[in-house]
Amino acid sequence: MYFPNYHWHLEISSKCTLKCPRCPRTEQKGSYVVSEISLEQLIETFSQDLFLNEAQKITLCGGQGDPIYHSQFLEVVRFFKSLRPRKIVTIVTNGSHKKRDWWQELAAILDYGDDITFSVDGYDASSNQRYRVNSDWSSTIEAIKTMSTSRAQVIWNTIFFKFNQEHIQEIKNLALRTGADAFRLTRSHLFASFDKPYYLNEQGIDPLEPDSQYLPEALRVAKKMEWFNPQSEKNLKASERYREFHISRKKAVEQTLERYEDSLMFPNCQFGYRGNYVDVEGQFYPCSWVSHPAPEEETPSFLKAFYRAHRVKFNVLKNPLHQVLSDPLWEEVLKQWDSPHHLPEIRECHRKCQKQFFDSEEIRHYLSLGNKSQESRIDRLRNIADLEVSEGKVSLRYCGKFKNTQSLWEWKNWAFPEDKLTIYLPFRKRELTYADVEQNMYLTFLWSTHQLAREAQLTGKFKVEVRFEKEGAEK
Ligand SMILES: C[S@@+](CC[C@H](N)C(=O)[O-])C[C@H]1O[C@@H](n2cnc3c(N)ncnc32)[C@H](O)[C@@H]1O
Ligand code: SF4
Ligand code: SF4
Repeated sequence: MYFPNYHWHLEISSKCTLKCPRCPRTEQKGSYVVSEISLEQLIETFSQDLFLNEAQKITLCGGQGDPIYHSQFLEVVRFFKSLRPRKIVTIVTNGSHKKRDWWQELAAILDYGDDITFSVDGYDASSNQRYRVNSDWSSTIEAIKTMSTSRAQVIWNTIFFKFNQEHIQEIKNLALRTGADAFRLTRSHLFASFDKPYYLNEQGIDPLEPDSQYLPEALRVAKKMEWFNPQSEKNLKASERYREFHISRKKAVEQTLERYEDSLMFPNCQFGYRGNYVDVEGQFYPCSWVSHPAPEEETPSFLKAFYRAHRVKFNVLKNPLHQVLSDPLWEEVLKQWDSPHHLPEIRECHRKCQKQFFDSEEIRHYLSLGNKSQESRIDRLRNIADLEVSEGKVSLRYCGKFKNTQSLWEWKNWAFPEDKLTIYLPFRKRELTYADVEQNMYLTFLWSTHQLAREAQLTGKFKVEVRFEKEGAEK
């Protein structure tokens, strides 16, 4: 078996009533099937021994749909909750357009340890519409209130946008008043400055991207969760229910650490962090990130070719689960993550699962990045970048291996966390101090390096180089 089986993420529905502008279902309309996995198919597939014996948690979310719009959603949840040994169920939804009695039924099905996340980005009906287009505020608020009476934990999730950047405290207060158990602030990368120039409008502005003065707070963590009452009965019972799950995860993490000791990668999918992913067509993927890889013109997609050649083999609605998960063809994917010198061709793996880019406290703890000497970090980095280190000065060639400028920045923080550095961009004769970059120039910096790197690749006329120089060093 090539993947751990204790956590699964299922896209039971690719239907949705909303039109969030940066959701793949809105952006890539027509390129995916609008459908659902029928209750019968779910029962047949997930009553197999492998799933019954090993699955502990099921996340009902998906990449391009909302689970609550499955035509038999309540029956689906009832089915998963009826399985033995018992499973934890997690639901992620926009929460709109359902009636109170429907939520009451769901509330009665869920148990301690289960949770439901409501994606709400506004502080009132009209601000929520700024991203959650077509949402129905009053039904969402009613849903949160109703679910707060259930045994399941209720999480209010807000993505940090320009339109809510000054209202975070207000939203958090509203979440508490409405009955949520926790508030989570999520940092999105779906903005122009993160290598996505297509989000700029005619004035050269990304209208949804938070202003730079708000960024330091938002950039520190990918997701910030705050429990309103950590000692509540729900929370304590949930911790009990999660005990076994955490034991499985710790074991999987340790095995992954051992196996990838020398690799540049720490693949999430090898320790079940995000769950084995099944999309609405029944395709199995190691995680949801790789289920909709970047468009081909942006990057040669190893996975697209892989799935084109072997699609039917990796469909769990057409093959037994154990066969899909133990197919020797997975070796081709797994070997991508093994090298101590090369990053995988799969762009999502390259971006999401390199060791130094984990910003989850928990994973960083496992990886013990903090304990590595600076020499050993720099040594590791020599493997992935053209790096010159001489006294007081570090130069790095912005090469193909560093496709993502955000990675470049995080890399700098990883290798030289203590140093005050001046970042020198030889082109356009610009110099930015470390403080400038951290405070408010961060995005400009990312944007300009990326643009220049792209131009350089296209024209081949000049080499792009970014130098980090210790303060006071001679230029
Ligand atoms: C495609 S949605 C599916 C679940 C559900 N429909 C929802 O929106 O919560 C999966 C996740 O993507 C998140 N999401 C949507 N737009 C996003 C964006 N622009 N940046 C970051 N996450 C986003 C949602 O909040 C949700 O947590
Ligand atoms: S609610 Fe979720 S699935 Fe629906 S459009 Fe928004 S992000 Fe996409
Ligand atoms: S991005 Fe790649 S390495 Fe990371 S979890 Fe997904 S498949 Fe695994």
